[in-house]
Amino acid sequence: MTDWQPPNRWPPLPEGVQPAVPIDGYPNTWTFTPASPPYSRPLTRTEATGPLELWRKLPCGDNNLAVLAPGKIALGQFIRISGRILGEDGRPVPGAIVELWQANTAGRYAHSHDDSKAPVDPHFLGHGRVFSDETGGYTFFTIRPGAYPVPVKDTWWRPPHVHFSVVGPSSLSRLVTQMYFPGDPLNDWDRILNSIHNPTARMRLVARQLHPAEVGDAFLAYQFDIVLRGALATPEA
Ligand SMILES: [Fe+2]
Repeated sequence: MTDWQPPNRWPPLPEGVQPAVPIDGYPNTWTFTPASPPYSRPLTRTEATGPLELWRKLPCGDNNLAVLAPGKIALGQFIRISGRILGEDGRPVPGAIVELWQANTAGRYAHSHDDSKAPVDPHFLGHGRVFSDETGGYTFFTIRPGAYPVPVKDTWWRPPHVHFSVVGPSSLSRLVTQMYFPGDPLNDWDRILNSIHNPTARMRLVARQLHPAEVGDAFLAYQFDIVLRGALATPEA
């Protein structure tokens, strides 16, 4: 027997650092937002710490969304997105499953649910999955996504953005969020980004562009660190 008890409750987050949902004009947030608070159930040790080596169960390796094969090159502006997955104390989280999905350069997803008039790019993968290394680091090579309109009556446009999911260190620890590009004018009008009322927390979803002198001329590069919990946590989105 052991007296070890897995934590099942974290200190409440400060006001305004998570999206205020549901979001007006974004139907998914109405259907996905529970009407009642979640039922709290104590976690077991297995649920809090495992399964170990998630990357063995969720095949990783698609970190290049833009060049599928010689001659199969996505249209768009080549970019690299890299960063670190960190715990609330700043320690790296190695072995986390980092998934990314995004629209192509025309603002269309490679998904059957996207029936917009924007063209599909057959050479763009649209999603990738890697696991974080010993320093918590991850890297994707992709293209800058296009903006797209939200199909509601009073339409508005999503700015270029990249969806992220991070699972780890256990399968019950998952953060789903979005990365935005610095300086895009549509950021100011994005209802999802602006549903995070705290401006400092909102900026945690905006990547940092690296100076081209550090990167070279093959692609533009962005750094996007993801903090899983605590006062500096990356907001869900
Ligand atoms: Fe999206």
